[in-house]
Amino acid sequence: MMTFGFTFLLALLLLALPAAQAAYIPIPRAISSNGEITLSQLNTIIGGTKCSLTSSFLDECRTAAQALPFVNKGFSDYNITSLGEKAAMLSLMAFESGGFQFNVNHFPGRPGQGTRNLMEFPSIYQYALSQPFLSHQTLALVPNHTVSNSYAALSNSTKNAILSLVLSDNLSFASAMWFYTQSGTGSGGKPPRGCLDMPGMVSGLQAQTEKGWENYIESCVGTSVTNDRKQGYLKTLKVLKQN
Ligand SMILES: *[C@@H]1O[C@H](CO)[C@@H](O)[C@H](O)[C@H]1NC(C)=O
Ligand SMILES: *[C@@H]1O[C@H](CO)[C@@H](O)[C@H](O)[C@H]1NC(C)=O
Ligand SMILES: *[C@@H]1O[C@H](CO)[C@@H](O)[C@H](O)[C@H]1NC(C)=O
Ligand SMILES: *[C@@H]1O[C@H](CO)[C@@H](O)[C@H](O)[C@H]1NC(C)=O
Repeated sequence: MMTFGFTFLLALLLLALPAAQAAYIPIPRAISSNGEITLSQLNTIIGGTKCSLTSSFLDECRTAAQALPFVNKGFSDYNITSLGEKAAMLSLMAFESGGFQFNVNHFPGRPGQGTRNLMEFPSIYQYALSQPFLSHQTLALVPNHTVSNSYAALSNSTKNAILSLVLSDNLSFASAMWFYTQSGTGSGGKPPRGCLDMPGMVSGLQAQTEKGWENYIESCVGTSVTNDRKQGYLKTLKVLKQN
């Protein structure tokens, strides 16, 4: 009787063990319960940017502490939760904006190009149009074009006027996330899905492979892989996995 009872108890205990162990697996620190980027992670990723009176473009400069809530809100608003996708977008923003020192293109100074991922026309226009509270002002400046070639005819000042609509922190730190998930033209009457349906895009970034990141840079962002960009991505990936 006692032996049976003991064995039975032991069996119960053993059965219960895997579940009990699973509950004790520590949650990695970088992936906090809500998966948000931490201040120290962001500060490292942007190279400890300080905004001071000697900054070349002080009004555009943002420290990690200033940018953090907008960065995390951007990921959350556009439903980007994986570490690999966040690393790709954050490293792009850090690279393009000189660690959040710039919000518009200064070198060479292309009209209408800006936000933290230095988006260009016509994406800047589509981004402004995608914000319900801006669509009226945007359409007043430029009617809804469907032929992308016609954007070339816009004056520099019109392009800059559209750009100025999306330079506030709550928009400029979320444009990379918008571009990845909602830019472009939808097909079959469906809303545009950015780069999400490009072959291997989401899976490659989520798998955190260099090939996946190269696909993002070349096919989604539409620029060339350089060693500087790659080092920025690898560093960002490493930082997001630590802390
Ligand atoms: C957010 O992403 C999750 C996981 O990919 C998906 O199940 C969900 O439908 C998405 N939500 C929105 C609002 O896009
Ligand atoms: C702009 O034009 C496209 C294509 O005709 C249409 O799908 C979209 O809803 C329009 N956007 C606005 C804000 O009018
Ligand atoms: C528009 O900007 C481009 C690039 O900076 C410049 O080359 C061009 O002269 C400008 N056009 C006008 C009309 O100012
Ligand atoms: C951004 O801020 C402006 C001004 O405070 C506000 O009107 C707008 O709704 C905000 N946009 C988003 C996307 O949060």
